[in-house]
Amino acid sequence: MPEHLTVVEHPLVQHKLTLMRDADTPTGLFRQLLREISTLLAYEVTRDLPVTTRQVHTPLKPMDAPVLDGRKLALVSILRAGNGLLDGMLDLVPSARVGFVGLYRDEETLEPVQYYCKLPEALSERRVIVVDPMLATGNSSAAAIALVKDAGAIDIRFLCLLAAPEGVQRMADAHPDVPVVTAAVDERLNERGYIVPGLGDAGDRMYGTR
Ligand code: URA
Repeated sequence: MPEHLTVVEHPLVQHKLTLMRDADTPTGLFRQLLREISTLLAYEVTRDLPVTTRQVHTPLKPMDAPVLDGRKLALVSILRAGNGLLDGMLDLVPSARVGFVGLYRDEETLEPVQYYCKLPEALSERRVIVVDPMLATGNSSAAAIALVKDAGAIDIRFLCLLAAPEGVQRMADAHPDVPVVTAAVDERLNERGYIVPGLGDAGDRMYGTR
């Protein structure tokens, strides 16, 4: 397992992921499970956020207590499936700034094509968490991270629900400085760039499209 990869093996995450993989799980439940898992994954991906202390007065005495240090987090969603991870993460870090990168995958070349980019300011001073449920070829994720780096981000994490070994390798090659957090690494990609066994097209399953 590459050092920059964390697989979150918590039983709640694994149980919810199994329900999401099931082709019979309906759209509404799929979205709800994704939201719940994203809160748990947010807990993991923020584990090493810098902290400082602030004095508070408890009813008994003053104390220096830990608080988050530095600028607010920035979450960057890769449209459209990345949005499925946002709400659950924002439940945990409601003041995070949120950016969006629009990339679609050319179904012939599997290369990402950018159509939208709106990012929070002062990215160089924030922890930036780029989110997309599926790390498949890694082409879109690597391209999105290159965009946030161009916008000044230095401290970056990539959070996904499921990864293919090919995508993990692509990220390690393109962005060895960016740790990846996922709930599982599956067997492989198929010839259409889908993760196997995976869960199908995450965007379609979230929104009931085809
Ligand atoms: N995107 C998806 O939604 N699913 C995959 O399996 C691969 C990419």
